[in-house]
Amino acid sequence: MKDNDTYDLSWDEWDELQRPAPETTQFDEVVEAAISRRGFLSGIVAYGSGAAVMGTGLLNSTSAEAQTAGRFAFTPIPIQTDGTVHVPDGYTWESVAKWGQPLFSDAEELSQETGVSVGSSDRVFGENTDGMEAFVVGNRQVIAVNHEYVNTKVNLPASEGETTSADDVLTLQNMQGVTVMEVADGPDGWDIVVDSDLNRRITHNTPMTMAGPAAGHPLLQTSADPAGTTALGTMNNCGAGKTPWGTYLTCEENFNGYFGSSDPAFEPPEGYGRYGIGMEGRYGYERFDERFDVSQNPNEPHRFGYIVEIDPTDPTSTPIKHTALGRFKHENAAAVIAPDGRVVVYMGDDERGEFMYKYVSNEPYTPGGKTSELLDDGQLYVAKFSNDLTGEWVALTPEATGMDEAEIAIFSRVAASNVGATTMDRPEWVAVNPVSVEGYCCLTNNRNRGVKPNAGGDDTSVNGPNPRAENNYGQIVRWYPSNDDHAADTFTWDLYVMAGNPTVHDDAYGGSSNVNEGNLFNSPDGMMFDSTGLVWIQTDGNDGNEGDFAGMGNNQMLAGDPATGQIERFLTGPKGSEVTGLTWSADRRTMFVGIQHPAAPFPDGEGMLPRSTLIAVRRDDGGLVG
Ligand code: FEO
Ligand code: CA
Ligand code: CA
Ligand code: CA
Repeated sequence: MKDNDTYDLSWDEWDELQRPAPETTQFDEVVEAAISRRGFLSGIVAYGSGAAVMGTGLLNSTSAEAQTAGRFAFTPIPIQTDGTVHVPDGYTWESVAKWGQPLFSDAEELSQETGVSVGSSDRVFGENTDGMEAFVVGNRQVIAVNHEYVNTKVNLPASEGETTSADDVLTLQNMQGVTVMEVADGPDGWDIVVDSDLNRRITHNTPMTMAGPAAGHPLLQTSADPAGTTALGTMNNCGAGKTPWGTYLTCEENFNGYFGSSDPAFEPPEGYGRYGIGMEGRYGYERFDERFDVSQNPNEPHRFGYIVEIDPTDPTSTPIKHTALGRFKHENAAAVIAPDGRVVVYMGDDERGEFMYKYVSNEPYTPGGKTSELLDDGQLYVAKFSNDLTGEWVALTPEATGMDEAEIAIFSRVAASNVGATTMDRPEWVAVNPVSVEGYCCLTNNRNRGVKPNAGGDDTSVNGPNPRAENNYGQIVRWYPSNDDHAADTFTWDLYVMAGNPTVHDDAYGGSSNVNEGNLFNSPDGMMFDSTGLVWIQTDGNDGNEGDFAGMGNNQMLAGDPATGQIERFLTGPKGSEVTGLTWSADRRTMFVGIQHPAAPFPDGEGMLPRSTLIAVRRDDGGLVG
């Protein structure tokens, strides 16, 4: 079990603590009548148009044919509750990069007694591996990977996790952000290429260019940067994405937790509340780094909450914060090209009652033409779902929102509320199917929907893609863009899966018909498609394995067939961990998977410090894994 004497809370746990618990749990009468597990398809008519909310493909998933003629090149594995990673027979995993492992030979490795020295802290693999993408640079392979947050007690053992100096703050700042590293498959398997000229750490202090409609706006100006065009650092980097021109997108999620005020009388400016910016930072940065003291620098938080582009081929390049893609708790970014060449980026805002967004560039992408600038000149949209299984992307224009373009970019949540966007059950990763024109978003869970409003959106009732009031389990919504065009303003939708537990519940909490005793899971979070069109689903949920969660075991990674709805378990993580982040080697014979915040002594075994780890998984016969 997770030991909070040793380990800090994960961001999900921390976020939960910031919110009041529901006073009661009510199960909306309409939904109760509408959705029973067996009556799901007919019941949905109660608030639908008569069409089935589940995709037609899913209907087939219960057929014997679909069960036996699966596309899965593995034998599904059972749940686990132990402290290591399990993969199917015929597959093997190995560690590639662990928290605190040197990227450069002059750095010292993390010591379980003394942590990492401040001098080495930006020259080692950071903590809490999350979203990642792989790139080919010449004949070399590079992985760019996020480091979402830190456990203070291990990084600052001398002070038992208290930040007591500017060096303590700098150590924590350096252990987060992004790693860009060359990796190679040698005689001992995949490893970091130490001292590669492509290796780079990007931290909370790396200079970045602000671009797009908010760049230079007075709300982005600070004493250190009066022009409002050069920010320092990227924070709480969660999921990731890749542009058509081969750059990395890192996504700033719970940036709000890093700020605090030295002055208890400081009056928070308008706009702090909706983003949860409080008066005490999670790590006490504000006590030793004035930039994070909002009473001194009230605009600094406005410079975070964006999508940041990093060129993994050039370690001297300056990352770019693309404000046109909006400011919210960005989970990840799924980029795709529309038929006319315009770049479409789908994005989720991971907070209860917040929204799903997409960005469409004004100009098309053409090889050899504009690249990065395409993310500065375009239109941001937010999703509005109707219960009749249709939906629209509402453009966040000045006319529709009553805000100017810079304000829309900085306070995107407010703009989206102003157009009546659909409040969602915590949008985590978005993914686009490469072999069929459809998008997917993990709605991880939401225990308060229908109970009371959250701090932001009007999250007071269940709605089409978020049909359960006390949603412990989560679901994956899928949309089909009109005219097979990701740039289209309208779509139809269904639920690819509603997670649940049919061994405990016989109502909607039992889950959709493609959930069965053999593939139980909760809280879908990470999600990526492989090149063949299988969707890989990673979980970050309750791994207590009892009660509502009985039979689900540790967090895991499953593969889903979009056509049949069939979902099978491929990998289980160590106790206490979240499985998050997925990419592939250039030959697609290795799958790289992130194991974040294990509580068991993973990967080194008994007596050793649990370390978040990027692992490689491959088939023993050398076959393709996606
Ligand atoms: Fe960092 Fe929403 O997960
Ligand atoms: Ca996490
Ligand atoms: Ca996540
Ligand atoms: Ca999560």
